[in-house]
Amino acid sequence: MRPDLTRRSFVRAVAAGSAALTWLGGRRLPAALASKANKPARLGGTPAYTGSWPKWPHWSRSWEPRILDVLRSGRWSGGGGQTADFEAGYADLLGAKRCVATASGTTALVTALHVMGVDAGDEVIVSPFTFIATYSAVLNHKALPVFADTDPATLTMDPASIESRITDRTRAIVPVHIYGMPCDMNAINTIAKKHNLAVVEDACQAWLAEYQGRKCGTLADLGCFSFQNSKHLPSGEGGAITGNSDELLDRCHAYHNCGRAFGTFQGKGCFSHGTNCRMTQYQAAMLLQQFDALREETGRRRESADHLAAGLKQIPGVLPARLPENSRAVWHLFPIRYDAAQFNGLTRDDFIRALRAEGVPCGGGYDEQYYDGVLDEAITSRGFQRLFPAERLKTYRDGFQELKGNKQVCETTVVLSNTLLLADRSAIDCIIEAIAKIHAHSAALAS
Ligand SMILES: Cc1ncc(COP(=O)(O)O)c(C=O)c1O
Repeated sequence: MRPDLTRRSFVRAVAAGSAALTWLGGRRLPAALASKANKPARLGGTPAYTGSWPKWPHWSRSWEPRILDVLRSGRWSGGGGQTADFEAGYADLLGAKRCVATASGTTALVTALHVMGVDAGDEVIVSPFTFIATYSAVLNHKALPVFADTDPATLTMDPASIESRITDRTRAIVPVHIYGMPCDMNAINTIAKKHNLAVVEDACQAWLAEYQGRKCGTLADLGCFSFQNSKHLPSGEGGAITGNSDELLDRCHAYHNCGRAFGTFQGKGCFSHGTNCRMTQYQAAMLLQQFDALREETGRRRESADHLAAGLKQIPGVLPARLPENSRAVWHLFPIRYDAAQFNGLTRDDFIRALRAEGVPCGGGYDEQYYDGVLDEAITSRGFQRLFPAERLKTYRDGFQELKGNKQVCETTVVLSNTLLLADRSAIDCIIEAIAKIHAHSAALAS
């Protein structure tokens, strides 16, 4: 292979299925991948990818009439109309009985936790490897988010770490299908049942993800989704709660609509405490029109993820996350478990720099955010100090150190940005090529 192998010649060689292909572990892999001569961009070589990646979000002119209709109707807020159509359509898409549209994923979580009875002074077991909103929603109720550990193989809540964290204050468990990878829900639901706890799925990144033939967001008491701009189903901001119990969904509806009675509770006025977490008609009109695209793009993301995972298998030290049996992820981002030891000690952050230099947008996932101050602010606040014994707040804070699996995950995960899997096959090959190049030259990059 020529030392100046360009991306174009690399792709040509792959397409031709020529002698540039070799067999490794029974799979076809371009010989260029292992080439010592093809230097990483950080060492002065040509970047593996110089094209542009798909942009996000994207839209279609065909959406405009419906959005204009909302504008001209003067009915920009409130239930019914586009919002009711969206709720019915989204429930249908997921195979859920009901859906309540909300202003955001955060307000969906706040609403669901309220409806499941989470109250001041309670504890809620949550996944720590997540966007901060998962646990700030718990803090909103003046309840304590108690972290289960993260399984380094799956990057999701480790069910084996839940029971030791249950106290007589524990009210609910919030597993997070992070990056669109389903959690081990059977194990989590079994523990919840045994201890009489509610389960609220944070499915904010898991639109159409599947676990044992059912969609995430329909696997527990309630499921919560986000439609914020970066999400696979975006409307700028937006969220939804899904579930199969009329009573729970009626309660969600009431809470998100200032406490106004709904469904079973109709005729009771503002029968319960609530707030305003309503979705606008504009958001609903945008979301409604993206169901087909979501289905089609999810299929493409899955194909790219399979291709990428097969390529990564040939390179030591870059493992995809393990999914529960009989489940399908949707890959909001694509995470890689990075092992620096297999890269001559090249640190995770230097690996990320090298991969970015190859033209592959990537980052480091979530940090150990529980040290960032949000939780210290909460537990030193007057409210929490009144609600919890000092000894409990101390053991709670000390407990962060026990999150060994999560620490490892925070330090070793590399995530590929959210539109990469929508690129064509040759671009995905370039990601594999880039990582292989970095691996082949890791000693030089690490020094
Ligand atoms: C896992 C997770 N939970 C909750 C949220 C909160 O959703 P939103 O930003 O719509 O409030 C997000 C959004 O990024 C998320 O990724």
